[in-house]
Amino acid sequence: MKIGLIGTGMLGESVGLHLLQSGYQLIAYNRTDEKTKELKTNGAQIVSTPKEVALNSDIVITVVKDSNAVRQVSFEEDGIIFGNHKGLIVCDMSTINPLESKKISKKFFEQNISMLDTPVMGGPNVAINGNLVMMAAGNKDSFTKCKKLFETIANKVFYLGENGSAHAVKLAMNLQITLLALALSEGITLVRGAKIDPAIFLEILNSTYFKTGMSENKASKMIQGKFEATFTLENLKKDIHTISETSKSFELELPMIKKAEEIYENAVNEGFGNLDYTGILAYLKKINEKN
Ligand SMILES: NC(=O)c1ccc[n+]([C@@H]2O[C@H](COP(=O)([O-])OP(=O)(O)OC[C@H]3O[C@@H](n4cnc5c(N)ncnc54)[C@H](OP(=O)(O)O)[C@@H]3O)[C@@H](O)[C@H]2O)c1
Repeated sequence: MKIGLIGTGMLGESVGLHLLQSGYQLIAYNRTDEKTKELKTNGAQIVSTPKEVALNSDIVITVVKDSNAVRQVSFEEDGIIFGNHKGLIVCDMSTINPLESKKISKKFFEQNISMLDTPVMGGPNVAINGNLVMMAAGNKDSFTKCKKLFETIANKVFYLGENGSAHAVKLAMNLQITLLALALSEGITLVRGAKIDPAIFLEILNSTYFKTGMSENKASKMIQGKFEATFTLENLKKDIHTISETSKSFELELPMIKKAEEIYENAVNEGFGNLDYTGILAYLKKINEKN
């Protein structure tokens, strides 16, 4: 089975490398072609348009920034639909608005292309070993055809029903990430203000029921001021905005995410966007610096 990959940023590159290591034939495209070098070195065939990816693949995975990017690589000049052939399935691993995803899948369906939503939890460091957690939605038969591939990419795969539902759950997951990163960062900032070593705070937190994967695995880097991105603050801000938009369209009031959007937006405007999302701690440090 030939797999196409569109988008070889942080997440896409790791997913692609893992597929190559697992024996899949991979055809890859990225808008900025320097980012395909590592995949090429590891045996991927690199092509110059999404259309060529589709023409040469049975299943195409898109892992791009947002819904505009998904639309661009799917429907615009030399997009996926121009490489349509019998049986083509598109799996979108980008994090996007569930309502957008419904519209995009409908547009694919009109071209006789089945599109599955396949957002994931976990970053490049777990994708490289096939240990993502995947939420999938869309046509059940297409899902069944892709299941083996999905089980290579992820160690847990959840099928959730019709298009849009996987993205809704993914947004609820990113809401957790957002508020956990803020809670940790504010806790660290508070103990620092009290002149207490944040390492002690983390040791105590991690001895309790309230510990998280983030407090156990990311927080020690945070207090050392190490924010090398596996998922950028800018991209989390994009997802927070999507959560806000989605909750509005469901007529829901989510006050915490509204506040978080303001904080992450300010952090991006202050130049923290390329840090890891946990770099929100560095932004809090900045706004608390006394003159
Ligand atoms: N990193 C994670 O931990 C993680 C985890 C789960 C989900 N995600 C989601 O996965 C997606 C990719 O994330 P990432 O971390 O890999 O981000 P990234 O490193 O910033 O990569 C973004 C990718 O999107 C492409 N792109 C952006 N705008 C485009 C456009 N208009 N047309 C075509 N391609 C476009 C970029 O191409 P260029 O190289 O040309 O800019 C790049 O390949 C996002 O939706 C993100 O929310 C990420």
